[in-house]
Amino acid sequence: MSGLQDKVVIVTGGARGIGAATAARMARDGAQVVVTDLLDEQGTKTAADIDGLFLHHDVTSEDDWKSVVDATVERYGRVDGLVNNAGIATGAPGTPIENETLESFERSLKVNLSGVFLGLKTVIEPMKATGGGSIVNVASVPGLSGFPGVSGYGASKWGVRGLTKIAATEFGPHKVRVNAVNPGATLTPMNECHVQPGEGNFPRPR
Ligand SMILES: NC(=O)c1ccc[n+]([C@@H]2O[C@H](COP(=O)([O-])OP(=O)(O)OC[C@H]3O[C@@H](n4cnc5c(N)ncnc54)[C@H](O)[C@@H]3O)[C@@H](O)[C@H]2O)c1
Repeated sequence: MSGLQDKVVIVTGGARGIGAATAARMARDGAQVVVTDLLDEQGTKTAADIDGLFLHHDVTSEDDWKSVVDATVERYGRVDGLVNNAGIATGAPGTPIENETLESFERSLKVNLSGVFLGLKTVIEPMKATGGGSIVNVASVPGLSGFPGVSGYGASKWGVRGLTKIAATEFGPHKVRVNAVNPGATLTPMNECHVQPGEGNFPRPR
């Protein structure tokens, strides 16, 4: 039996891409999956395909987070897992810092980092109440090394890794594990505009 059998897991940004693939794999391993996203049509379809539940969710909204967690607990009685996957890449790839706008830089931080913070903050109480849980934050390779031309995105993902370590130390005593994963370049709607299959034209790490 899979460790995910009958676990209740929320996957943010689960309508498409890595989030949809994660949701499908978790459902196949027996989890009850709550798919959340801004994209209602796609999210509803993704959730229906895996017998999951779709909830509209903007990860930058604290009210939305409360609604999502409350609705999950109401429907399934608990939250065992959270995949903080929703993310965006702002600014044209390869834009040097001197040409990046503050607005674009801060938008990456808001969705990719503050969105994860709000998820951690909202889900911890229900996890504590049922004796534990597991949280996976989706960071990225530009959050592991110096990566030119992605200042907002890279800074947000470095932040996600730092926040993951802080949350792990705070939540560990409550039997809630917190980990980050750093996927390599994956051909999803996020980067299909600048990565061609079989090529790697994303800037190289330094
Ligand atoms: N594709 C890659 O190469 C790659 C590599 C490393 C890490 N990642 C990370 O993986 C995660 C998923 O990326 P993806 O490639 O599947 O991208 P994607 O654009 O296909 O999917 C991201 C999903 O997040 C949703 N989303 C965006 N802003 C949101 C918000 N404010 N609230 C709720 N949902 C929101 C989008 O609607 C979309 O469905 C991201 O955190 C990304 O940074 C991607």
